[in-house]
Amino acid sequence: MARKKQIRTIGVLTGGGDCPGLNAVVRAVTKTALTRYDLTVVGIFDGFQGLIENRMTTLRPEDVSGILTQGGTILGTSNKADPMKFPVLLEGKTRLMDVRDQCLKHADENDLDAIVVIGGDGTMSAAIGLAEKGLIFMGVPKTIDNDLVGTEITFGFNTAVTTATDALDKVHSTASSHHRVMIVEVMGRYAGWIALHAGVASGADIILIPEIPYDLNAVCACVRQRSRHGKRFSIVCVAEGAKDKGGRCVVARRIKDSPDPIRLGGIATKLAYEIEKRTRLECRSVILGHVQRGGTPSPFDRTLATSFGCYAVEQLLAGVKNRLVVRRAGELAAIPLSQVAGKVRTVPPDHALIRAARAVGTSFGEK
Ligand code: F6P
Repeated sequence: MARKKQIRTIGVLTGGGDCPGLNAVVRAVTKTALTRYDLTVVGIFDGFQGLIENRMTTLRPEDVSGILTQGGTILGTSNKADPMKFPVLLEGKTRLMDVRDQCLKHADENDLDAIVVIGGDGTMSAAIGLAEKGLIFMGVPKTIDNDLVGTEITFGFNTAVTTATDALDKVHSTASSHHRVMIVEVMGRYAGWIALHAGVASGADIILIPEIPYDLNAVCACVRQRSRHGKRFSIVCVAEGAKDKGGRCVVARRIKDSPDPIRLGGIATKLAYEIEKRTRLECRSVILGHVQRGGTPSPFDRTLATSFGCYAVEQLLAGVKNRLVVRRAGELAAIPLSQVAGKVRTVPPDHALIRAARAVGTSFGEK
């Protein structure tokens, strides 16, 4: 594969957790490659798992017709298939094996000249490992968490924020009717982008994000103060990765065979218990979970995903390789994959939206 100069066949895969807009990228890659450049496109099933197991199919225009608005991914995905540490059952024991040569063989058998990998940090790290063996990649940044470095936005984030905001708005009315403190937990791993944006959009009274460890006394004081001033309810928007000062994130589960085994979750339940105990105000918690990853992509994500997919193909044809498509100051660019892998883009504590939120009276649970 590395020996070939001209790109005639492009593989495409979706890796890691799904998110709205994946199909829009698959469609854009396929349509651009087929209709604009007369290439062949091969869809690889279930992320790198399909490359490891040689499960792929040629994509025709009709395969990607009507998928722009569909959530999920028609190709399937996996967040456990790292070709450098792939679980293989050997003599009754599961061992993590380097199966990159197997990937190379399958790429050759399917005439893949380059692969568009649509994914997050884990997918890009795996692509780097395979690039070292000679495969050619172009990354497209996906994640609802918006935590990939090098790009100001990932597709899927806008839809997740819209879903979370809608949920917060709904919780608002019931909190008001019952005079309760409602604590809504949103996803985002170790970054508070979703909580910050959905919290500001819904006018949450308190926003708790991993980047600003909170003080429980300050959170309770804010809730009490609202109560004293005649506000008979409060809304707390908490990121799943938020933690109190000196404390740790709440871990929901550990997934043994995943390259990134920790799954966060449960901070809202913990907070509801603690706030109710200290303030004697009735609290309820809601963990939004995977609804944030599902559903129809927003118009913003559809357009972003389409422009990313088209640009990825154009870059490959221009001879650019092993880069990630990014958006910076509204413009598309492609940066080396090595600049992205293994890093997390968190919310800067002096971010303009944090300043704006504070200006309108939102608390971040600080003393
Ligand atoms: O990275 C996307 C994300 O949805 C995170 O926000 C969340 O912590 C994690 O994936 C959940 O992973 P899983 O689907 O494996 O439970």
